[in-house]
Parts: sequence; C-alpha cells; structure tokens
Amino acid sequence: MDTRLSDLKDKKKIKVLFVCLGNICRSPAAEGIFRQIVENRGVADRFEIDSAGLYAGHAGELPDRRMRVHAFQRGYNLTHRSRPVKTSDFEEFDLILSMDDANYTRLRALAPSPEMEAKVARTTDFCRRHPGADHVPDPYYDGAEGFEIVLDLLEDACEGIADALS
Ligand code: 4NP
Repeated sequence: MDTRLSDLKDKKKIKVLFVCLGNICRSPAAEGIFRQIVENRGVADRFEIDSAGLYAGHAGELPDRRMRVHAFQRGYNLTHRSRPVKTSDFEEFDLILSMDDANYTRLRALAPSPEMEAKVARTTDFCRRHPGADHVPDPYYDGAEGFEIVLDLLEDACEGIADALS
C-alpha cells in the first residue's frame, strides 16, 4: 500500500471508496459493513464512505438479492445503488479499496496521476483473522457459502481499516 495512513488520520474527514466489478455484491457489502463499524465506534462523522464498480452494467441497481439477504442476517441493511467508477473518484477519495487483483490492476491503470494511483490498495491487506487472504472472491456465480466467505473477509478487513484510520 502506498497511501500513508498516518497522514489520513489527521484529516477532518476521511473518504473511503470500495470497488469491485459489478458494485452489487462485494463492494456494497464492504460499504455497509464499514459504515456500521464506524457508527458503532461513534466516529461516523469522520468518514465519507461509498462504493462503485468497474463494470457499469448494473448501474442503478440495489445490491444482488443474495448479498442483501446474507448481509441482513448479520445486521447490515444494504441500500446502495450501483454506480460505475468515475475519474473524479480518484481526486475525491483518500483511499480506494479493491476486492481482487483484476480490480486493483484496473484501478491503478485508470488513475490519472501517480499520486492518485497510490490511493489504491487491496481490501484484504487489512485482514487480521485471515492473514493469508489476498482477495475477496467474486460470489456472483457461487452458492450461499460464497456470500458468507465474502462477509467473513469483509468484516475482518473493515475492522482492520477502522483501526488503521483511528
Ligand atoms: P461484484 O460481483 O463485483 O462483487 O459486484 C459481480 C456482480 C456482477 C457480475 C460480476 C461480478 N457480472 O458479471 O454481472
């Protein structure tokens, strides 16, 4: 990770963007989990949190119904509407978190400058209970277990992100 997290801690508002392919499974779940964690910690006003996708084909849609059901069972209400990543996101956000290698490579290639490229990091870099995890697997073509794995990894990573920025 290139972004200096210690510099972000001093900012009045830290802007975090989670990115996956469709923005209907992994990244809206990450957004909802991270939102809940910072609310529980009483620091929600220090964060602006959003998510986006590298594929625009689901723009305007709620998260995948399966993702919403599995997340709801853990207490997360996912209401984000899918939107594609835009160039201004690289300016706007402080930390841009990819779900897998394909997202990571694509985001870094889209970044308009080396400074903005340095804002891109892997969500799983923040996992502590899953130290070997190097990506959040795409659950779209999987069964129920795939969605549970996504939530396990994201809860772990989002706790790590909140700790790193607190
Ligand atoms: P996500 O999952 O990237 O976690 O939102 C996917 C959603 C849709 C598709 C692929 C992955 N799709 O090909 O439509």
